[in-house]
Amino acid sequence: MGALAVFPLLLLILQIGANSAKYEPNWKSIDSRPLPEWYDQAKFGIFIHWGVFSVPSFGSEWFWWYWQKQKQKPYVDFMQRNYPPDFKYQDFAPLFTAEFFDAKEWTDIFASSGAKYIVLTTKHHEGFTLWGSKNSWNWNAVDIGPKRDLVDEVVTALRNNGDIRVGLYHSLFEWFNPLFELDAANVFTTNYFPTSKTLPELYELVVKYKPEVLWSDGDGDAPDKYWNSTGFLAWLYNDSPVRDTVVTNDRWGYGSICTHGGYYTCSDRYQPGHLLKHKWENCMTIDKKSWGYRRNAPLSDYLTIDQLVSTLVETVSCGGNLLMNIGPTHDGRIAPIFEERLRQIGQWLKVNGEAIYNTTAWRAQNDSLTPDLWYTFRPQEKNIFSILLKWPNNGSVILNEPVVTGQTQVVLLGYGPLKWEPVKPSGLQVHLPQLSFSQMPCQWAWTLKLTGAT
Ligand SMILES: *[C@@H]1O[C@H](CO)[C@@H](O)[C@H](O)[C@H]1NC(C)=O
Ligand SMILES: *[C@@H]1O[C@H](CO)[C@@H](O)[C@H](O)[C@H]1NC(C)=O
Ligand SMILES: *[C@@H]1O[C@H](CO)[C@@H](O)[C@H](O)[C@H]1NC(C)=O
Ligand SMILES: *[C@@H]1O[C@H](CO)[C@@H](O)[C@H](O)[C@H]1NC(C)=O
Repeated sequence: MGALAVFPLLLLILQIGANSAKYEPNWKSIDSRPLPEWYDQAKFGIFIHWGVFSVPSFGSEWFWWYWQKQKQKPYVDFMQRNYPPDFKYQDFAPLFTAEFFDAKEWTDIFASSGAKYIVLTTKHHEGFTLWGSKNSWNWNAVDIGPKRDLVDEVVTALRNNGDIRVGLYHSLFEWFNPLFELDAANVFTTNYFPTSKTLPELYELVVKYKPEVLWSDGDGDAPDKYWNSTGFLAWLYNDSPVRDTVVTNDRWGYGSICTHGGYYTCSDRYQPGHLLKHKWENCMTIDKKSWGYRRNAPLSDYLTIDQLVSTLVETVSCGGNLLMNIGPTHDGRIAPIFEERLRQIGQWLKVNGEAIYNTTAWRAQNDSLTPDLWYTFRPQEKNIFSILLKWPNNGSVILNEPVVTGQTQVVLLGYGPLKWEPVKPSGLQVHLPQLSFSQMPCQWAWTLKLTGAT
């Protein structure tokens, strides 16, 4: 065989080798898996916290824990004032009615936001499953409450839309599950709970709904060995129906956060403010104080659209994805305040999406001298984007980081080309047009696109 004939054969062998790459059930192997590309390109997702906690919708989705374990006064008082003395948390479940829930309406709102994926709580620490799990007998949305498979409805509506990927959140532990408590009492030397509950549920979720994000949470201070996380992830990456596209996070057992798994979340509302080498996600919530819906949240507890756009911009500049949370109501509505915020983000992305989707971090994340100015980069076209979080009131802005040439062009996205001149020692001063409010291409942050600069 001549060299020319060997070459395609060699490629074929290499390809077969690549496709059958088997991940082993240890972190070294699991962590070596490249993150599927779609996730970094997507940049923006919506987190949805929905469950029995949406019924009291008071305080936090940690309602049950704060009320009965920690006996925090506001929760105890709330129950004493409003419910009969023998009322149990379980009694909230029939009140989880979802009568206004329409997954198609939700999908329309999600699509209008520009989000590329969602992550739905299929089971929070309360243990209630939003799908008819055979491993959660009588404590699931098909047997009690809505009497509907809410996960199936959301997944089906999203897949009919086509442009938004499905992500599922799942809590490893359950606060009050007696099997978990038994294992905890045995200092996790037994694993009754993961083998009979957590792992069967995870396999069930993946096989049934084929999520492309699996957002694990709630290790209950138990190590990943107890959860058999690497065993499960090896199956997920090698043999599951989503092995080629699924991404996971880093919450797979005590100590795994920010260290193992797929992308890093590190903490809730993680915002390092500088570039991270490893792909990460900022999961945060529009209601500053809760992930689940709170009926008693005042307007001032919701982040403003300016704050949300700034968070998106800073997160993407530093190499992260933003997962922005809303809490639907017990009757299945997305409250107008959340709907408005989501639609506003979408309006902003319609004009400025070029500076967000499919970008990578640039060599500088923010400007060294001009405040409130963040950079992103599109390697395909070698475009640099500088996003101004504030509109300068003096008619110009100085970008100190880019190196300009005679060919450099500056465009205000949604408007058109702008005049600029070089400044010393490096960078450029961009002259901004005088625009009335209605002439502004958008309202909350403005993007300068630089071509022919480095
Ligand atoms: C852990 O997961 C692997 C892969 O699915 C499986 O072969 C193994 O039996 C599991 N171990 C336990 C203790 O469940
Ligand atoms: C991002 O890149 C992917 C893959 O090349 C492409 O399919 C997608 O349309 C791009 N999205 C945007 C918003 O540019
Ligand atoms: C922006 O850049 C400067 C200098 O490069 C740095 O000191 C600062 O901490 C950065 N972050 C923010 C949030 O401004
Ligand atoms: C005007 O304000 C911008 C933004 O703060 C700043 O970068 C620029 O240097 C100012 N221009 C002049 C001429 O002072």
